[in-house]
Amino acid sequence: MTLSSGPVTSKSATDKVSVAERLFVALDYPDAASALSVAEKLAPLGVSYKVGMQLFYAAGMSVVRQLQPYGKKVFVDLKLHDIPNTVAGAVDSLVRQGVEFLNVHTQGGPEMMQAAVDAAYKAADAIGKPAPKLIAVTLLTSLSERHVREFLFVESASAQEYVQHLALQAKKCGMHGVVCSAQEAALIRKACGPDFLLVTPGIRPSGTDTQDQQRVITPAQALKNDSDYLVVGRPITGAADPLSAARGIVEEMRGALGGATE
Ligand code: C5P
Repeated sequence: MTLSSGPVTSKSATDKVSVAERLFVALDYPDAASALSVAEKLAPLGVSYKVGMQLFYAAGMSVVRQLQPYGKKVFVDLKLHDIPNTVAGAVDSLVRQGVEFLNVHTQGGPEMMQAAVDAAYKAADAIGKPAPKLIAVTLLTSLSERHVREFLFVESASAQEYVQHLALQAKKCGMHGVVCSAQEAALIRKACGPDFLLVTPGIRPSGTDTQDQQRVITPAQALKNDSDYLVVGRPITGAADPLSAARGIVEEMRGALGGATE
């Protein structure tokens, strides 16, 4: 893959989004109090937040609502994956309660993704709100080329080709974007166009521990590869000073975007 070297050019999908808002801090905590205490510390930065399974199953929609005043966006990352009717019902419930950024798993198949898209538009219409951003998970960033070959048993494609294929399927089903590794972002951007949202976890500032992530990349390189949104958890939430860790990442992002002031 060829990587661009200079500052990132602006794209329509995130043109009006501030640099800090393009950082989703993954609040993987067991209770609302821990998540809200970090959100309070990070409030001066104006970052966005991601509520995943651990926090959502412990604290539900109540913590999503409580986070909304602290963050620009709140991404509810439940990676819905079930039969079309069940996923449509789950999307309906989430959107009717005000969720504006959520995801399903591509592995649920095209009918499931289409059912999710239909449900999202209908639910938003019913409550008089704009349609939410519906994002499809491709291949988890904790899985490597070896998993694709030996576990998923995909022999005919590399991990990048496999992810590109899933992204194109997601786009065809009407999804607004995908979760992928920023290592594949440039390739997916080329295949899926400028408005398709690329949300990329597996971000590790240089010198930090990769932990269970495999396909990792730095914040600056993720933006140079054309990611729209970066998802960062433990490098911020596990730091002695989360505000300073998050500020460092936002500064690195600003540098990669050519010193954007917003
Ligand atoms: O702590 P860390 O930065 O590794 O957190 C990454 C976050 O992104 C976690 O909340 C994880 O659930 C999420 N995620 C991921 N890979 C995906 C999709 C989501 O790591 N493909």
